[in-house]
Amino acid sequence: MKCYSLCLVLSLLVISNVSSQEADEFEVEPDEVAKVEEAVDSEYPYISPTPLDPSRVYIADHFDDVEKYQKLWIKSLAKKEGISEEIAKYDGVWDLEAPQRDGLFGDKGLVLKSKAKHAAIASRLIKPFTFNTKPLIVQYEVTFQDGQECGGAYIKLLSDGADTKNLIQFQDRSPYTIMFGPDKCGTDHKLHFIFRHKNPKNGTVEEKHCKKPKERLEEVFTDHLPHLFTLVVNPDNTYEVLVDKKVFNSGSLFDDFTPPVNPPMEIDDPSDKKPEDWDEREKIPDPEAVKPEDWDEDAPAQIVDENAVMPDGWLEYEATHIPDLKALKPADWDSDIDGEWEPPLIDNPACTDVSGCGKWEPPLINNPEFKGKWKAPLIDNPNYKGKWRPKMIPNPDYYEDKNPFKMHTISAVGFELWSMSENILFDNIIITDSMDVADQWAAETYVLKRAKISKEAESVFEKLATYTNEHPMMWLLYIAVLVIPAASILYLCCKGGNSKEKEEETLQDNKKKTDAYTADDDVIREVEEEEEDPEAKPEEDEEEAEAEEPSEEDDREKFSGDDDEEEEEEQVTPKEKEAPRKRKPRKE
Ligand SMILES: *[C@@H]1O[C@H](CO)[C@@H](O)[C@H](O)[C@H]1NC(C)=O
Repeated sequence: MKCYSLCLVLSLLVISNVSSQEADEFEVEPDEVAKVEEAVDSEYPYISPTPLDPSRVYIADHFDDVEKYQKLWIKSLAKKEGISEEIAKYDGVWDLEAPQRDGLFGDKGLVLKSKAKHAAIASRLIKPFTFNTKPLIVQYEVTFQDGQECGGAYIKLLSDGADTKNLIQFQDRSPYTIMFGPDKCGTDHKLHFIFRHKNPKNGTVEEKHCKKPKERLEEVFTDHLPHLFTLVVNPDNTYEVLVDKKVFNSGSLFDDFTPPVNPPMEIDDPSDKKPEDWDEREKIPDPEAVKPEDWDEDAPAQIVDENAVMPDGWLEYEATHIPDLKALKPADWDSDIDGEWEPPLIDNPACTDVSGCGKWEPPLINNPEFKGKWKAPLIDNPNYKGKWRPKMIPNPDYYEDKNPFKMHTISAVGFELWSMSENILFDNIIITDSMDVADQWAAETYVLKRAKISKEAESVFEKLATYTNEHPMMWLLYIAVLVIPAASILYLCCKGGNSKEKEEETLQDNKKKTDAYTADDDVIREVEEEEEDPEAKPEEDEEEAEAEEPSEEDDREKFSGDDDEEEEEEQVTPKEKEAPRKRKPRKE
């Protein structure tokens, strides 16, 4: 079993290595590449989009127009409160740029250039969005052009009011109505949807965090491709989160947020105490049971093996260690201070080739008579009353908000971020109340972009295929370069397995005929995981790098209210649990 997987991995390695060399040789001519790119560009002509129905749009920016951008987007010059002067400034760098790779001709995006700096930028909406009878749709694109080690790319929909009047002062405490978008640190991948809810009873505002979806969101941070994030919040208090137009998370504003929008109607009575005589023991020792007559509690657990005999050749009168007669008293030895000098002990050479030296003692064996302390068997407790619970009383803080959709009016939108990776590209942001408008906007931007990227990837293969058709001799080369080494490796590996290994294999195969857990499941799973998960190592390195950056942790404390940490633990596979833990604690 093992042999085959090993062989397979080896041969795949050789094949992939060889074929990438092959492709490199093939691609090198730069003007060829440029020609292909030009051809693809003309196949995907890009024109800065205009919304289908401007009356349904609250903001729509494609970031292609530098003048418009400079007029509408305001970089924050705020200072964070409560931290030292040099890291308090919002001095992150924003710019309009074409994407580093695979861009549409003429398309630009908003790029967060700097890392490890507070960066905030915001724009006023064309008109405020009031939560009424129409859905809220927020959509934008993110490309982590340099990947993401630790940091966010989420958007904040700023609450209308005095605190957001001056966008130059936009900072982490500026009140927002909704925060939405990707965020990552180490292995903690998130897609936030947080809304701030006003307690109708006393006006206190509280963050409500959306439940975690089942699916993991990892690729968007690592694949360097544009990804589309869409949030839909409906007047019927349902929501939907889409990634690349596929539903990623959905549910109800009532049921899927922590803490819940509406507090429980009843709570435990804090003044209720467990009565003294409340018996919570489900089982008790049988009071009627008596210790059997022949139960000897004093019998030792182990006894001397009476049947053992001294092994042949044992030298009972030889000491195991003897003084080293060759040793000399050190010249600086002072008997008055150091005491009488004695030569060090060494192993008795007379004992090296015999079964043992010194007094022989028979070994101990388990005592068949051993019973240990007698305990009465357990029976059902006749007085068992179940687990005690305090009685419920009406919750004094109870309220019922029947329409949490009616959130605080939004009048601006912005990014307020801290990132450990630079060059995050944002593009094609739109806030609308019409899904058609959002879809059309994406069709002219994101969809076109991804189509072009697929086409480009395809055309490299196509070129290879065309060339091969025109030069059939290429097949001989493929066979020589790919098939022969792979076949020899397979042959060598598997022929090498001697009969003992084969026996083990059959043994394992037999064991695997049952679905039940067997000890070698772990081994096989480990092998499989190593094959499947080439990213595992860099991930760990990332985490170590992350641990060396304590400053950003402070920054992220504001999200420490959520309980993802626990969930993270649950997802640890058995293998990870056994391995020595490299991970350092992320939050104190
Ligand atoms: C408002 O009520 C909530 C409980 O529902 C409580 O936690 C909060 O402290 C209250 N705020 C004020 C200002 O009384």
